Amino acid sequence: MRVRKAVIPAAGLGTRLLPATKAQPKEMLPVVDKPALHYVVEEAVESGIEDILIITGRGKRAIVDYFDAYPELEEHLERSGKYDVLEEIRKITEMANIFYVRQKAPRGLGDAILYAKRFVDDEPFAVLLGDDIILSNPPCTKTLIELHEEFGGNVIAVEEVEVEDVSRYGIVKPEEIREGVYRVLDIVEKPRVDEAPSNLATMGRYILTPKIFDYLKKIGPGYGGEIQLTDALRVSLRDTTLHAYRLRGRRYDIGDKFGYIIANIELALMRDELRDKLLEYLRSIK
Ligand code: UTP
Repeated sequence: MRVRKAVIPAAGLGTRLLPATKAQPKEMLPVVDKPALHYVVEEAVESGIEDILIITGRGKRAIVDYFDAYPELEEHLERSGKYDVLEEIRKITEMANIFYVRQKAPRGLGDAILYAKRFVDDEPFAVLLGDDIILSNPPCTKTLIELHEEFGGNVIAVEEVEVEDVSRYGIVKPEEIREGVYRVLDIVEKPRVDEAPSNLATMGRYILTPKIFDYLKKIGPGYGGEIQLTDALRVSLRDTTLHAYRLRGRRYDIGDKFGYIIANIELALMRDELRDKLLEYLRSIK
C-alpha cells in the first residue's frame, strides 16, 4: 500500500534547550528564517506525503498558528506591495493537509505515536521527528518509502555515530544486504558503550506498518520511564521485518544546543545572500 500519510511528533518538552523552550516549542525555533518544523514538513511533501498529523502538546500553539492563514498579515503585505513575502506566507498554508492532536502528557515518543492510530487507520505511514532537519537528495523519507515498497515491513534511517555516543541513541544490530541498506537483527535503546551491537544509530525518520500500534500498547515504559518506539520495534521483529537505510545527506538535531547552532551556520552558508558575508565573519573570529 502506498505511503501517503505522515506523523510528526512535536510534543516533547525540549529540556535540552531550556530556557528557550519554556514558552516556545523547540520545533518552532528559527533555523535562518524558517522554523525547524517547516523544513520537516517540506521533506514530507517532497516525499509524496499528502496528509500530515502533527502531535502537539501543552504550550505548542505556535505550531498550529504557523500553518494557519493570517488574513490581516496578508492584507498588510499586499497593501505595502511586499509581494514576494506575501507569496511565501501563502505557500505555508497550502503546503499540505495538516491535522493536529494533543498528547496529554509527554510520556515518550512511542506514546506520542499512539495518538496517530485513528489518523493512520490501516495504512503504512511515515514518522518524521519535528526536531531533526535532514537535507538530502532525494529526500530521506522518499528513500525510506521506496525501501518499504521493496521490502515491506518497517524501515528506519540510521547514521554512524561516534562509539562513545551510542548510549544517546537507539542502536541497531545490522546485516548489510547492499551498500547502505541493512536488515536489522536487533535494536536497542540507549545501550551502554560496551553492549552496543554497532555504532549505527536511529535518527528521526521511520516508515511503520500499523501493527506497531499493537506493540506500542503492549510494551510498558522503557528507558527514562517513557514509552520508547525503539522497544516496540524490537518486539515487532518477531513478526515484521525491519530494514535500515544509512542516510546519505546531512542531519541536524536542533533539539541539542550544538546541533541547533551548526544547523543555523550551515543552512545560512547555503544561502547566496548570506554565504560570503558569513564566511568572512567566521574567518575573522579569533
Ligand atoms: P526528544 O527526546 O528529542 O524530545 O524526542 P524531548 O523530550 O522534547 O527532548 P529533551 O531531551 O527534553 O530535550 C524526539 C521527538 O519526539 C517528540 C519530540 O517533540 C521530538 O520531536 N516527543 C518526545 C513527543 O512528541 N512526545 C514525547 O513525549 C516525547
